[in-house]
Amino acid sequence: MCGIIGYTGKDAAKDIMLDTLELLEYRGYDSAGIAVCEGEKSQIQVYKCAGRVKDLRNLCEKEEIEGTCGIGHTRWATHGGVSSENAHPHKYGKVTLIHNGIIENYKDLIGKYGLLDQLHSQTDSEVAAAVLSHFYKGDPYEAIRKAVLKLKGTFALGILFEDIPGTIFAIRNVSPIVVTRTDNGMMLASDAAVLGQYSEEYFVLPEFHILELKEEGATLYDLSGETAEPRWLVLDWDTSRSGKDGYPFYMEKEIMEQPEVIRETLQPRIYEGVPYFTQDEIPDHLLRDCERICVVACGTAMHAGLVGKALIHSLVRIHMDVELASEFMYSDIVVDEKTLVIAISQSGETIDTLEALKYAKKNGARTMAIVNVRGASIARESEYVIYTNAGPEIAVASTKAYTTQLAVLYLLAARMAYVRGVFDKERTAAFTRELMRVPEVMKQVLDRREEIHDIARGILDAADVFMIGRGLDYCILLEGSLKLKEISYIHSEAYASGELKHGTIALITEDTPVIAVVTQDKVQSKEFSNIKEVQSRGAEVVLFMKETYTLDKAASFRGVFKLPVMEDEFMVMPASAALQLLAYYVSLDKGLDVDKPRNLAKVVTVE
Ligand code: M6R
Repeated sequence: MCGIIGYTGKDAAKDIMLDTLELLEYRGYDSAGIAVCEGEKSQIQVYKCAGRVKDLRNLCEKEEIEGTCGIGHTRWATHGGVSSENAHPHKYGKVTLIHNGIIENYKDLIGKYGLLDQLHSQTDSEVAAAVLSHFYKGDPYEAIRKAVLKLKGTFALGILFEDIPGTIFAIRNVSPIVVTRTDNGMMLASDAAVLGQYSEEYFVLPEFHILELKEEGATLYDLSGETAEPRWLVLDWDTSRSGKDGYPFYMEKEIMEQPEVIRETLQPRIYEGVPYFTQDEIPDHLLRDCERICVVACGTAMHAGLVGKALIHSLVRIHMDVELASEFMYSDIVVDEKTLVIAISQSGETIDTLEALKYAKKNGARTMAIVNVRGASIARESEYVIYTNAGPEIAVASTKAYTTQLAVLYLLAARMAYVRGVFDKERTAAFTRELMRVPEVMKQVLDRREEIHDIARGILDAADVFMIGRGLDYCILLEGSLKLKEISYIHSEAYASGELKHGTIALITEDTPVIAVVTQDKVQSKEFSNIKEVQSRGAEVVLFMKETYTLDKAASFRGVFKLPVMEDEFMVMPASAALQLLAYYVSLDKGLDVDKPRNLAKVVTVE
């Protein structure tokens, strides 16, 4: 993970870097640093500390930092704990370096280049700086070329050489680096999203190409020394303009935005009452001719895939798997030209998903991506892409990205059923009409958020929580449970409620609140029986159920939230919004940093 930034030009590098690093914090926020090259004096000063970018800003405010060329970094610790020594940039000899990725053979390199007593940090990144320094005899290209051939793993490196003032060098393998020109100079960053405020175009540094960035422009060389031409792309994604609109946290704002962004994701893809993907240039034969679908994704995006699988199974009746992207390549999964691999990712930069997608492509599969951030690596790598129109999602806990991914999967399921002749036009139109009700029904849940806030107060002190349901209810509880865990730090486990009695029910006590979701007609009576089973063991149950269901007079619940009614396959949407709010209010009332939970980063770019 980690965010990286570089600027060289006429303006004060410090201000640009600090502003941009703040926006890059979603890539990691345990420590931060900048290195500034003081013009012709060619001195490189490093300022870094453990903590957030605001701590670095405080540190820098006490100093006079005047340079117009610099590199900056915000870290998510992998090798070496959170400390100012382990923060980047790392200075070794004449080399100062920032790194995103993991140098897997750092231990071998320490031995090979006799670095054991020479390093000041515990990071793999400082080892990369030392290897570069070892090869640096005045020719930066030779040093970079020789050094990167020794590095194993993934890396995006931004480099300053003490005796080459005003110039930033960079090189990468897998981990992204993008480059843009501003009115007064040139910039590089780990992703384009933060460059939107400076420019309207950018290019992606090709892998294993050396970038030389000076005030007047960028030059690219491949490793044999040949120059290469950058491929400029339009930059239409700007996270810097995304404010909180008066909400205390981005997460609340993003939850509340869902009706609008779901509508914006659906509307342009509906024509004459049925879904179509002409604007995304997805040909019908891709959806008609595939014999199997395989979703690769991580975390919340993977949970969206599980809902998609349940839908597509029941609507289209074709074989579909959902694979954890991090396991995909190591599980000997068979894909071929009849397999459609769908990579789902909010950021479009998750390295596990990106690598799984590349693997699928290499093995002949057709590929499609469902991505939120425009122009992201996964979108570029995939044969076809469908963008969710969620807009920038800043909170680490994903909410609107998830429900817009679901919206796309509903559209895909319906289009697939239509082009395969499973649905006629009328049935497709009826499905689409119900889908178009989602924004309004979801809004009804959001408008009643104080009811959910009350329910949240009842589980603030829980150490463990179980979430139970069946079918689609279970699918969304997996996501609801992840949400609660990541922002409230309450241990929570989602369980298919029929499975509980096969072991896990041993953990149910009166101190273990159980959250149950019951929205599916065909399994509701069984779900209510499973609720009784945990209540008989003393558990207090919070219930989210379709409002048309009736409860036994004698039944007692810690809280009941009645969900507005939709057809069963669509209940996922209002129920998900309710679970998001539950997690949000628990975290809020516990006084936690809702948007930036501990140990996490929004974009996960290490394997
Ligand atoms: O950007 P991506 O959708 O590929 O990210 C995948 C996961 O890292 C992400 O969904 C993560 O699980 C979120 N923190 C969940 O809220």
